Amino acid sequence: MNINENYKNLEESYLFSTVAKKVNEFVQKNPDKKVIRLGIGDVTRPLCKAVIEALHKAVDEMGVQATFRGYGPEQGYDFLRKAVSEYYMKRNVTLELDEIFISDGAKSDIGNILDIFSKDNTVLVPDPVYPVYVDTNVMAGRKVMFADANGGNSFLPLPDESVKADIIYICSPNNPTGAVYNKEQLKKWVDYALKNEAVILFDAAYECFVSDDSLPRSIYEIEGAKNCAIEFCSLSKTAGFTGTRCGYTIVPKALGKLNKFWLRRQTTKFNGVPYIIQRGAEAVFSEKGQLEIKENINYYKENAKIISETLDKCGIWHVGGKHSPYIWLKCPNNMSSWEFFDFLLEKIQVVGTPGAGFGKNGEGYFRLTSFGSKENTIEAMERFEKIFS
Ligand code: MLT
Repeated sequence: MNINENYKNLEESYLFSTVAKKVNEFVQKNPDKKVIRLGIGDVTRPLCKAVIEALHKAVDEMGVQATFRGYGPEQGYDFLRKAVSEYYMKRNVTLELDEIFISDGAKSDIGNILDIFSKDNTVLVPDPVYPVYVDTNVMAGRKVMFADANGGNSFLPLPDESVKADIIYICSPNNPTGAVYNKEQLKKWVDYALKNEAVILFDAAYECFVSDDSLPRSIYEIEGAKNCAIEFCSLSKTAGFTGTRCGYTIVPKALGKLNKFWLRRQTTKFNGVPYIIQRGAEAVFSEKGQLEIKENINYYKENAKIISETLDKCGIWHVGGKHSPYIWLKCPNNMSSWEFFDFLLEKIQVVGTPGAGFGKNGEGYFRLTSFGSKENTIEAMERFEKIFS
């Protein structure tokens, strides 16, 4: 028996598990201190009414012989895939139902999709970025190359013709920096992928935060993208489904075998998202659902504004927060990311995420999330002001 030695090449624990462990240790030692968590991007607003009503209805259906459901289609019920396709239609993106795969969230599919690619593929990942892209490839033993994202390119790296990558990850709006590609920039990546016969894995988990209609929310708004891109999206941040779990992945049929292979993979290794949850997800796309989730998104955007205004007052350099729930800041006094993490936890009991956890270019930076409650966000920022202004 040989184990997968590639795991030895990973950091000892996943970024957010390390953060949670450190915070829990602090809380154990300091039970009287109120810790404010603006670290992991976990939502705090409850599910909206439209979703709750749909969930209740579906629960009742499951208790009645005539409407009870067992195994569902692994790729999702038609009613939800139809709702997703109509959502894309609003942006003039036409999808066939068998190009849409309902999942338990973007994180799982982003990792699982690697099953359908050869181990020999080279991988290009922006740095800094959501750590799942790198970790899942390291687990599989793939070679990962990095596209530097930094202040010089406004955290939006563009293709470098001298680099030949087979699999390219793009996250826009970006986690952690909040940077968003415009259509011209994204077109450059699509052209590069088409020319190099590469595939783009486009993570659109934060699309609902895009505040400017001229910016793309889906890569399929770019001509040619259906021939080179797979898109992942999630209802976690859009509609508060971090605990409820539902997302969707688009594998266009223009990608040939990839669509078939993904279906084959999913039907073999996945039994689909529960019917009840899919009914809740369907309600997100209803007129009422869309209005209600917008209220929550605006609530988080307001928090982002509060954070940004405070950082301005404190003279702390930052970006993000406009088209994303994340504020990306430069650690004051040249502190390293983890030094700043410890400093904030010890001094003011505010938790954020060290930028270094998102890649080497994240060193010296720090991420705050706007997903906290308004009260906690205000309190955290009052604590910031006390020590930094
Ligand atoms: C984050 O904080 O980056 C995200 O919440 C992690 C995730 O969505 O898995």
